[in-house]
Amino acid sequence: MLHARVYGGERVSVPQTVSAQSSALAAGGAEASRVLERVEERMAALTGRHGSVLAHHARETISAGGKRLRPLLVCLASGVPVAESDALVRAAAAVELVHAATLVHDDVLDGSSLRRGRPTVVATGGRLIATATGDLLFSRAFAELAGGGSVEAVRILSRAASGLAAGELMQRADAWNDEVTVERYLERCRLKTAVLFRGACELGALCGGGPVAALGEFGEQIGLAFQLLDDVLDVTGPPERTGKPRGTDLLDGTVTLPLIEARMRDPELRAVDLRELRTADAAAALCDRIAATGALELARGEALAFVDRAKATLPRLPERQRGALELVADGVVERYS
Ligand code: IPE
Ligand code: IPE
Ligand code: MG
Ligand code: MG
Repeated sequence: MLHARVYGGERVSVPQTVSAQSSALAAGGAEASRVLERVEERMAALTGRHGSVLAHHARETISAGGKRLRPLLVCLASGVPVAESDALVRAAAAVELVHAATLVHDDVLDGSSLRRGRPTVVATGGRLIATATGDLLFSRAFAELAGGGSVEAVRILSRAASGLAAGELMQRADAWNDEVTVERYLERCRLKTAVLFRGACELGALCGGGPVAALGEFGEQIGLAFQLLDDVLDVTGPPERTGKPRGTDLLDGTVTLPLIEARMRDPELRAVDLRELRTADAAAALCDRIAATGALELARGEALAFVDRAKATLPRLPERQRGALELVADGVVERYS
């Protein structure tokens, strides 16, 4: 489902929920919707203070929306309605705030000017404001979680946040490096993305008294699928759907699976130096060359395999909960098909 927004007088469509995700929410029942509404209220309240400049950017970041996939996972992994509690709302809000913080910092690192169809914080406020806004969102996330009183919950989110930082640094360290292997690429995806999906599922399971380790494993597998497909989407676009131009990763030197696989298939692509790629048109042309090798189908296939593995790792759960989690896993794929 595309959601039209008006920004700066211009209507931009940015991806919000996909229908499998809406179905997953519906499968979670009225309780899940109520929890997610409370999460929105909490996030709005948490980002409304802290000085006018930072509060403005933090609020804009949260109100720009997004799919809210991670809070949905917290919710469904908990097995609502059993766990419809203050701790659950706090956990779901904290996970989304960490996600938002990471995106704000990610846009600084990647030099991105558009996110969710809107100018990024770094584009409007500059590097220092964006760094501080991300820091604020991180600190609000941990304060929110700590307010629930669970040391284990704080430990889970802290582990995820450390992974995210390590993954982002790994991406910078590997920028422009055409020797990056598939294994190293996957480890980067695990760290920068899948650990937070794992954390979301672990937190949900912790709140609901469910199987933390098994649901965490499920989260990690769909997180990997999610990042692989995000990297495919960077090549395919279209921008009206992704909220950012095609080839953004290529322009900032990020070597992803489509490029790694395309280089193996087309010797001429091995000679391409990403540093010489300067314009959006050149990036789009390189995207077309990558697509022509069949590398995108391969990357999509890898992502589908992670979705299948995720579903296979689901432990014994109440039928409704299991069905809803499977729908989320399918939604990761639906976003790109
Ligand atoms: C974007 O995540 C960052 C990645 C891990 C690829 P989402 O695609 O979930 O971002 P929003 O919250 O829906 O905008
Ligand atoms: C996601 O990687 C990194 C985060 C965990 C924030 P990307 O750099 O691919 O995310 P997008 O494409 O900018 O959303
Ligand atoms: Mg990025
Ligand atoms: Mg991306």
